[in-house]
Parts: sequence; structure tokens; C-alpha cells
Amino acid sequence: MRTPGARGRHVALVYNADEGSVPDAPGDRGSSKDMRAMIRRMARALRRVGYRVTVVPLARDLLAFQRRLRILRPDIIFNQYDDVVHGALYEMRLPAVVRMMGFPITGSPALAIGLTRYKYMAASLLQGAGVPIPDCTEILERIGDVNRHAWRFPLIVQPSQEHAGIGLERDSIVHSKKALREKVRHILANFHQPALAQAFLPGREFNVGIVGGRRPRVLPLAELDYSALPDSIPPIMSYAAKWVETSPEYQKTSVICPAQVAPELAREISAISLRAFRAVGAWGYGRVDVRLDAEGRPRVLEVNCNACLEEGLGLARSAERAGIPYPGLLHMIVKAGLEGVPNDLSLPMI
Ligand SMILES: Nc1ncnc2c1ncn2[C@@H]1O[C@H](COP(=O)(O)OP(=O)(O)O)[C@@H](O)[C@H]1O
Ligand SMILES: [Mg+2]
Repeated sequence: MRTPGARGRHVALVYNADEGSVPDAPGDRGSSKDMRAMIRRMARALRRVGYRVTVVPLARDLLAFQRRLRILRPDIIFNQYDDVVHGALYEMRLPAVVRMMGFPITGSPALAIGLTRYKYMAASLLQGAGVPIPDCTEILERIGDVNRHAWRFPLIVQPSQEHAGIGLERDSIVHSKKALREKVRHILANFHQPALAQAFLPGREFNVGIVGGRRPRVLPLAELDYSALPDSIPPIMSYAAKWVETSPEYQKTSVICPAQVAPELAREISAISLRAFRAVGAWGYGRVDVRLDAEGRPRVLEVNCNACLEEGLGLARSAERAGIPYPGLLHMIVKAGLEGVPNDLSLPMI
């Protein structure tokens, strides 16, 4: 499948090779070994489209990385620089550095990547932009903040600057002020960041894949199916449900794609997702997490700028349902990157 426009173009596929201090747990699909395997599959798919691909790991030596890019002179950087150290908030650095060097890059700019990792800021911005979010969305910087609000339970409580289900556990849904206080205490002590509390939305949950530059396209909706979970496990995309293959959370949570949704609801979900994607300044591709409230109205949980691009999963699965094979999806993402964010002038500093 050689595609016009791709032939001969040189892509530098950059990933985070810093393994930090956290050893890979067995059975955890979020490990750095899994990431390296994914990078190899991506490189292969990009080559199939006709790109010349160089895989460029970035660990701690920024100067060596920059020297390498200057020698390679790629047409574009394909950004797969993800956090591997919990709480590190490293992701926003790569697009900033790469744009300062004057190279185009795939995906969202540093601002959108940074902003969406601060869940309270992102939620406040979405609310300001008229995007429905869960009620009672509050940030708790100290335990005393529990007394500052009139809560309506149940709430879901999570670290406010994480992603990928980190800090979401079986006791993340709380039904009392006492349990809320305990959870906030746990998050402050273990994650060293404020907690985010929100009304727990009991309805259906959807992942909304978006791809494209100036004209982003909403892919077929995916629904998370929690119906096989026992009552003792809450219906949420916890860390275990997302990554730990051996857990009941992982084994009993499945994805239905395309989701069976009435056309009017599907249109509403797509429209608010696109509005959220644009409001945070996302670009090229992303995934919006949406859940229905008790009245069946969709609300946006978050926008994922660096959505997982693993073959056959998430965004790639939704793209396949729209008739876009994996290499074709990566090609669309590169094209959006080459198109570039409007008004992002190239002003190289080195
Ligand atoms: N307000 C909420 N109501 C119901 N479920 C929620 C809410 N917030 C988060 N969740 C559940 O927790 C999961 C992870 O939350 P999210 O905010 O998307 O964080 P992450 O960045 O870890 O994916 C969601 O996919 C959803 O299942
Ligand atoms: Mg999410």
C-alpha cells in the first residue's frame, strides 16, 4: 500500500526510552517492553505506507537527541513520547523542543498536551467553552478542602494530574464525606498532587476517536462494557482494567466497537467531543472520554491528546471500523502534522 504524498518522506519516530526508577511489573501491559514492541509495529506500518522511518529513542540526553535530529533532518517527528514515570508530566516537553528546533511534529502542541494533563484546568476550560462536564468538579489541594463544598454523593476521586487510569482503584468512588477525606489523604500522600473530585456518572461510557487536521473527523464510537463485572468492582476504567492482564477488572471489561447508539445520541456525543477537542487546542488525533449522566445526557470526562495508537486497539480499532487500516491512520496523522497547527509559525532557535 504505497500512498502518494508519503513516498520517500523521512519520519523520525520518537519515543520515551527513560525507564525511570519504576520496574516493569509482570502482566502489566503498560510496561516499557510493551511500548518498544508497539514502536516497532508503528515503524513497520509507516514503512508500508512508503515513509522512510528512523526510530529515535529519547531518554535523558537532550543534547545528543538534538544533535541526532539535526543530522537526520527528518521531514517530521512522529510523537510517541509518553510519560513512563508516574506524575512526571514530561509529555509536553517534546513538542516544545521539537518546534523550537523548527521541525513539524504529529499530534497536539505542547500547550494542549500540558493543559489536558491538569484535569481541573481542562475541565474548567471545557465548562467555560460550553462543553457539559460532570457536576461537582472540584480540586482538593489539602484535606481541609473537603469542607469547602456542598457535595452530592457518590463522587469519583482521582489524582488531578495523571492519565492512563493511574490512581483509579476499587475505592475511588466514595459515598460519604469520611470516605472522601480518606481518599484525598491517600492521593495527597502517595501521588504528591491535588485530588480531583467529580459527581460519579452512572451511565454508559464511550471513547470517541478523532483524527485529522483542519477538518477533524469523528470515528465510530466505542463503548466500554462493564456488564460482566461483579458488584464488588466499580464500573470504571481503572488502572487494573486498562493494563493489568491478570486482574478481573481487565478480564471482565470489554469494548464494543462500533457502539450501538441511537443516531441522535451519537450525533450529540460526536458534537460535544469535537467541541472539547477543539477547545483544548488538540490537533491531528485524539480520544475524548464521554459518559452519560443519570438522565442519559453525555458529559465529557477528558480529552486525551496523546491517545494510545496501538494497532487494533482504541483509536486504531475505531479507524478500522471506519474502513481506515492501521497504516492509513498513521498516514492521516502524519498529514495533519505536516499541515500544522494554524498560526504556529516556525521560528527555529537553533
Ligand atoms: N465523573 C465520572 N463519572 C463516572 N466515571 C468516571 C468519572 N471520571 C472518571 N471516571 C471513570 O474513570 C476512568 C478514568 O478517568 P479519566 O478522567 O478518563 O482519567 P484517565 O486519564 O486516567 O483516563 C474513566 O474512563 C471512567 O471510567
Ligand atoms: Mg480517560
